[in-house]
Amino acid sequence: MNTTLLKPGTLLHGGDYNPEQWLDRPEILEEDIRCMKYAHINCVSLGIFAWAKLEPQEGVFDFSWMHEIIDRLYREGIHVILATPSGARPRWLSDRYPEVLRVDVNRHRNLFGERHNHCLTSPIYRKKVHILNKKLAEEFGSHPGVILWHISNEYGGECHCPLCQEAFRNFVRSRYADIQELNKRWCTTFWSHTYDSFDQIESPSPRGESGLHALNLEWKRFVTCQTLDFAKEEIEALREGESVLPATTNLMYYYDGLNYQKFTDTFDILSWDNYPVWHKKAEMQTALDCGMFHDIIRSIQKKPFLLMESCPSATNWQPVSKLKRPGMQRLSSLQAIAHGSDSVQYFQIRQGEGASEKFHGAVIDHYGGTEGRVINEVAETGKALEQLREIYNSTVAAPVAIIYDWENNWAMQDAAGPRNENLFAKEAVLKSYEAFRKLGLNVDLISMEQPLEGYQIVAAPMLYVMEESFSDKVRDYVKAGGAFIMTYWSDIVDGTDRCFMKGTPHHLMDVFGLRQAEIDALYEGEQNIAAPVTDTSWSFPREYTCSHLCELLKLRGATSILEYQEDFYADYPAVTEHAYEQGMAYYIAADMETEFYLDFYRQIADKLQLYGPWGKETIPEGVAVSTRENMDYTYIFVQNYNSHAISIKPLPDTDMIYGLSDNILDGYETVVWKKKR
Ligand code: GLA
Ligand code: ZN
Repeated sequence: MNTTLLKPGTLLHGGDYNPEQWLDRPEILEEDIRCMKYAHINCVSLGIFAWAKLEPQEGVFDFSWMHEIIDRLYREGIHVILATPSGARPRWLSDRYPEVLRVDVNRHRNLFGERHNHCLTSPIYRKKVHILNKKLAEEFGSHPGVILWHISNEYGGECHCPLCQEAFRNFVRSRYADIQELNKRWCTTFWSHTYDSFDQIESPSPRGESGLHALNLEWKRFVTCQTLDFAKEEIEALREGESVLPATTNLMYYYDGLNYQKFTDTFDILSWDNYPVWHKKAEMQTALDCGMFHDIIRSIQKKPFLLMESCPSATNWQPVSKLKRPGMQRLSSLQAIAHGSDSVQYFQIRQGEGASEKFHGAVIDHYGGTEGRVINEVAETGKALEQLREIYNSTVAAPVAIIYDWENNWAMQDAAGPRNENLFAKEAVLKSYEAFRKLGLNVDLISMEQPLEGYQIVAAPMLYVMEESFSDKVRDYVKAGGAFIMTYWSDIVDGTDRCFMKGTPHHLMDVFGLRQAEIDALYEGEQNIAAPVTDTSWSFPREYTCSHLCELLKLRGATSILEYQEDFYADYPAVTEHAYEQGMAYYIAADMETEFYLDFYRQIADKLQLYGPWGKETIPEGVAVSTRENMDYTYIFVQNYNSHAISIKPLPDTDMIYGLSDNILDGYETVVWKKKR
């Protein structure tokens, strides 16, 4: 693992700070600093949307205000994550150079306004960003208070302008030997959509081509590639300005528009913005959902990440912006730390006075000062992070992995197959995730490009796309003694969404000892039942429901563990096992209820003698357990997502570093123990 040590060498606590909004009132900065210190804040993100204040006219720069603020914060012990302001541009730029304005999928060019809407390709936009970034690096890159570059903000969206079309054509050209090869692999003979030359390639559009799945997939790949190319140029400009500081960019919750798994090399450390909707369903369900995304982000670089934004109270953009109940802000923040974050940052430090985010929650509200409930909760979180400071830069070791692959998601969702209403693909991943987590096991979520070695169990839910390179890894993994679980709707197409002939799971029929013959889609509310087969080595306490998708298998060596009970495929296998060389290959043919995954994975873990810090005991309902580790210690986080207190005994051979009194874990509270390794 390569680490990215940030200068303060401790867990960061702070958030987005946009003081350029009140430069005319210097007393606000003084008040803010007082509040930040009260709230145990040690780091703010500055300049994210400040281009118009940094370059008010083309070529006229003003860094004086930023110097004053950074100096002032540094004197008070507050560090700065400095942004490159490419996320929103000043008006003069698009007035003078309209090519920087994004063109939408219907080929209409946007007017000036909003943010995150530049053309990804425009040489002029890139040049203007380059000039400003280089100057920022020269001005602030060696300031002792600046610790990290925050590259742009939440990169996203796509541009369909002529410049982007040209770049897309070149991208496609570089990936195929000639247009005949492209036609073959994209299956363009269907509906007579054959291309005569690469010059005819256009991005997908509802006004034109939208049903050519390979084109859609290549376009999405291109958007990721072009976004990263843009980001690389941003970082190059900082390096030209002689800054050696590490760079991050902030990612978005399950954002589908960019393949974040390709962000590995461009950034030194990844970060993301987490805005869970608490208090709507069972808190544990929400915790699993955002816990999984923490793990997805951490698994990309397999090292600590940063929580770059979160809301200290309520947002203003969710359908209903509910206040976090007392304690929830700290619980949610410590969840990020438990899953491998080295920071808790908020949006925003001070609530804006006007425009579209004026009612978004903040550490310092419109009333100001330190008497409010929210700033006091933030201060408690700050104190907790100080108590946990030795956890900084520790890592997360996961004995199990789930394959979660962006390109697979893109292809599967676009494919027009057995269910267009909802494939419940994310839910399928969550079911495995929930089961592993409830067993107290840390989980990595990895792409098909990452290695499988080192994991004791690997689960692959709905791996619709499969390239040979990945199937080779699976084969080697199982051969060498691994336990591999794959589900329905896997290994169906190649990387251009072209179906495999002669049976699926195409590359792995021998490993699983079966073939998928048909797939049945169930209407909402319909169910089949899977019952355990008698006389196996398995012991399931009951039958389980299956919904949405049920495959009909033909076995070629595998044995049934559970069988369907209803419909014309009653008695067909629903779950199978197959010994392959030293390992085991398990196949789940239907969308089984979560309880099945729990009972199934518990038995697989038992067979492997694989236990988390909680051992064989069942973790109490609503409680989450996870660990981080460094050379000397394992840190065990136990978090209570119930609103009520539970009694809990200290784990053997541990010292408590945060939490518990009298063996009672209050509602929404966390306890952290450390154990010598
Ligand atoms: C995003 C943006 C921020 C802000 C917040 C509001 O994450 O990055 O600038 O708009 O949302 O929740
Ligand atoms: Zn463009």
